[in-house]
Amino acid sequence: MSDDEATGATPGGAHLLEMRGIEKRFPGIIALQDVSFEVSAGEVHCLLGQNGAGKSTLIKVLAGAHRPNEGQILLDGKEVGFSSPDDAIKAVIGTVYQELDLVETLTVAENIFLGHEKSRGGFSSRRAEQLEAARLLASLGHSEISPLMEVGELSAAGQQIVSMARALSRDVRLIIMDEPSAVLDSEEVRNLFDTVRTLTAAGVAVIYISHRLEEIRVIGDRITVLKDGRAVASNLRVCETPNVELIRLMTGRSITNVFPPVAALAAEATEILSVNGLVVAPGHDPISFSVRAGEVLGLAGLVGSGRSEILGAIYGSTKPVSGTVDIDGTRLRPGSTVSAVNAGMGLCPEERKSQALLLDDTLAANFTLASIGRYATAGFTSQKAEYRVSMEQIRNLELRPADPAREARTLSGGNQQKVVLGRWLSHGCRVLLLDEPSRGVDVGARSEIYNLIAGLSRAGIAIVVVSSELEEVLGLCHEVLVVSENRIVHRAPAVELSEHQILDLVMEGTTL
Ligand SMILES: Nc1ncnc2c1ncn2[C@@H]1O[C@H](COP(=O)(O)OP(=O)(O)OP(=O)(O)O)[C@@H](O)[C@H]1O
Ligand SMILES: [Mg+2]
Repeated sequence: MSDDEATGATPGGAHLLEMRGIEKRFPGIIALQDVSFEVSAGEVHCLLGQNGAGKSTLIKVLAGAHRPNEGQILLDGKEVGFSSPDDAIKAVIGTVYQELDLVETLTVAENIFLGHEKSRGGFSSRRAEQLEAARLLASLGHSEISPLMEVGELSAAGQQIVSMARALSRDVRLIIMDEPSAVLDSEEVRNLFDTVRTLTAAGVAVIYISHRLEEIRVIGDRITVLKDGRAVASNLRVCETPNVELIRLMTGRSITNVFPPVAALAAEATEILSVNGLVVAPGHDPISFSVRAGEVLGLAGLVGSGRSEILGAIYGSTKPVSGTVDIDGTRLRPGSTVSAVNAGMGLCPEERKSQALLLDDTLAANFTLASIGRYATAGFTSQKAEYRVSMEQIRNLELRPADPAREARTLSGGNQQKVVLGRWLSHGCRVLLLDEPSRGVDVGARSEIYNLIAGLSRAGIAIVVVSSELEEVLGLCHEVLVVSENRIVHRAPAVELSEHQILDLVMEGTTL
């Protein structure tokens, strides 16, 4: 077989883009080692690998955000340099980064055209930019986002869409998407895929990074797998490579069933968390539900349906209009997280990086933050205990690098998620509220997280899980509340629901 046949390039033609022998070192770590990677026009090339495998680093090298220590990049078969910030390669690539890089104080339209403002006769044409921004947002299925809004006012999902519109606003030949679906719900992912199909039909290449294999099946053409900074498989065809094989390549082991069995609930299990008539914000319907010892309750719904706000009001990070929350019969003070934590409640928030992670601190400090009293003896944190707990969580969650003294900032996106999650899992709560617990987390760690949740359930902890992945809600929970437009529209045992039914309920916003 010739090289061209093996790689899917047009016979005799060069790849749109090729990376050869890329190496990227950070202090104390080799993030990429001898990685070769290529993309052809019109294909969706998926980049897979566990958290910390080097995916984001590779695309940052490609997009010119990192300078590699070794290697070459070729565009249309010709080598391009890394020197000037505005070189050939940047002109043809649009990037949607994992950590969004928008300017929060600028408007949506200003962000989309930042650095390539439209001008007419030497004057920038704001009106033209706003019209074009509106068109791009509508093409992504989001005409409700106004070009005049400040980006800081948008949710994470909204910002992701703007970032996507920015990548599309230039005439590019390659679009890189680093975990775009991590903050989107299933409807938005469908819209995103429509856009991807339109792009590839026009010959644009897409590099797509995601931990969700079902998405790769729907949208991907070829796959390159990274493991510990090396490409362990290149140019696999999606249709010829089963999931078990991909998981084995990524993790080096086989995982067939990610969800552990849901533990049976004791008939006499006592009620631990009780939410009564909680009105989260003015004009919202009151919400009531309870969670028993060992019960895992799922809140299913679209991004923006109000699930995270419900968790926030229960935990006290926002003050509800009215209603009560009790833990083991103890009434919590509304709007007081101190009261919630003292009563044994923990919340792992959705936006872990901004809301929960101490980026400049070590992993050990981040792990023990919630339970600082427990590791402190006479005012000193017991370093030995802190180290022991950290190592246990690092092992449980397959954190890389496995070094409690490392600064949180230098971890990959998914490993940062695991740190915040690990903090709450090790804290010893009575009630645990988890917002999107597996977002951005790789397959291997995902099954570990599910095991930890199942373990906590068996130990009698009451758990509430918000998740946009219906498979996760159904695989993990005993009971499911379907939330639509700030209302609970349905409650049923998970075994009596299907993904389709939940979607229908969410869309209709009415009970069955
Ligand atoms: N600025 C940095 N300084 C030091 N180390 C870094 C830096 N950026 C990344 N690394 C390290 O490089 C390795 C690869 O990280 P990278 O972000 O590319 O992983 P990833 O495959 O994108 O993971 P994820 O799925 O979690 O996003 C990790 O070990 C990470 O800790
Ligand atoms: Mg990454």
